[in-house]
Amino acid sequence: MNHKINRREFLNAASVAGAGLALGFPTSTRGAADVAKPAMLGGPKAHAGGFPGWPVFDQTEEQALLDTLRSGHWFRGSGSTVAKFEEEFAKLTGAKHCLATSGGTTALCAALGALDIGPGDEVIIPPYTFVATYNVVVLNYALPVFVDSDLESFQIDANKIEAAITPATKAILPVHIGGSPADLDKILEVGGKHKLPVVEDACQAHLAEWRGRKVGTWGLAGCFSFQASKNLNSGEGGAVLTNDEQFANRCCNFHYQGRGKPVSGGSLAYSGTRGSNLRLSEFQGSLLMAQMSRVIEQTNRRTENANYLTKLLNEIPGIKPAKLYEGVTRSAYHLYMFRYDKTRFAELGRAKFMEAMGREGVPCSGGYGQLNKDDYVSALARNKHYLKIYGEPRMQQWLEQNRQCPQNEKLCGEAVWFTQNMLLGPREDMEHIAEAVRKIQQHAGELVRK
Ligand SMILES: Cc1ncc(COP(=O)(O)O)c(C=O)c1O
Repeated sequence: MNHKINRREFLNAASVAGAGLALGFPTSTRGAADVAKPAMLGGPKAHAGGFPGWPVFDQTEEQALLDTLRSGHWFRGSGSTVAKFEEEFAKLTGAKHCLATSGGTTALCAALGALDIGPGDEVIIPPYTFVATYNVVVLNYALPVFVDSDLESFQIDANKIEAAITPATKAILPVHIGGSPADLDKILEVGGKHKLPVVEDACQAHLAEWRGRKVGTWGLAGCFSFQASKNLNSGEGGAVLTNDEQFANRCCNFHYQGRGKPVSGGSLAYSGTRGSNLRLSEFQGSLLMAQMSRVIEQTNRRTENANYLTKLLNEIPGIKPAKLYEGVTRSAYHLYMFRYDKTRFAELGRAKFMEAMGREGVPCSGGYGQLNKDDYVSALARNKHYLKIYGEPRMQQWLEQNRQCPQNEKLCGEAVWFTQNMLLGPREDMEHIAEAVRKIQQHAGELVRK
């Protein structure tokens, strides 16, 4: 569709676009009308240059990997790099103990294993999360109990946790989704009142802070992921943080086939009753040490850019950046999340909005689906082991109860995400993102018909 805007329309678009339109598309080659026109309608892209790639690495990583290779010590039992990383990550986060694991999922497995979660137990989780949060509960044949989301923050609604607690509840497993802290004050208060351990799923929340202290250090345990997309990355990898020495030892034993602390050359005694091999390799440990040299600077840059982007997006009607709770002193911004209200975009559907953003050079996604209503999750009610442990009436009740997350349903229909690497470039990138949204809003009526 060939849309020519008049001067009044252009000035209007330019003024709402603010700094975004002063980006300097050379006026000698592009007319004023083109500047405000979405790429999907034939205009120039709001962001033509692409975003920083991920992962980021140089000779530091190459040398670290080569050193490990040449040392011949590829296993944590014979090398010292994983142990060194544990020490450094504990220092960085202010935790007393850190145990490196083969992934975020296995970090959560170690924590739940150390708590001896098992059949008949219930664990409270949010529905707005990666499936791993659910899987680790089910791997122990315990029942995951979903507590609805807070639409404004995208986090578990901490005010609804208490109502979900039963005599079978054995742990609360909140997630700091997108890297933004869940309401830890409220969660810890409820956990304390009912004497329930809180295991923070901080897999997306490296260096995020609640009231000036790092997340992952507030509950009994905090679990992190170093999987390839994460803000600290070794391809695969994870860690458990805790301030409780006994719990740290139980996690360590669980991750080491149920045996005692891995002292090189010593004999390893069994402890507990279950365990597995959840160890991190020395190669991953060395990669993490190298990546750690950048993590603070990258985190600061994400914060600066995300704050600026929030300021710009807050000025656009119908765009609602995820709220940070009053106790949040830093979000890790693993994801930049906002809600899209199509009624302020001439009823332009979210899928079309995202497509138009993509055409502007600003890739985005709609984020998680409704995990609590997913076929994969619903199938648990027919799992033969679960039927044996809990019986059909309980599993049917579980199925019904878990479907009641109305705020999460709304959230899943409105959410839009940008990935963390998009926050690592210059400040102008944020202006381009906002400009893309404004262009689409300005021309939403035409885009609906496209
Ligand atoms: C919230 C959350 N929990 C758990 C995990 C699992 O981590 P990993 O992929 O390292 O096993 C992830 C990783 O994607 C995650 O985002």
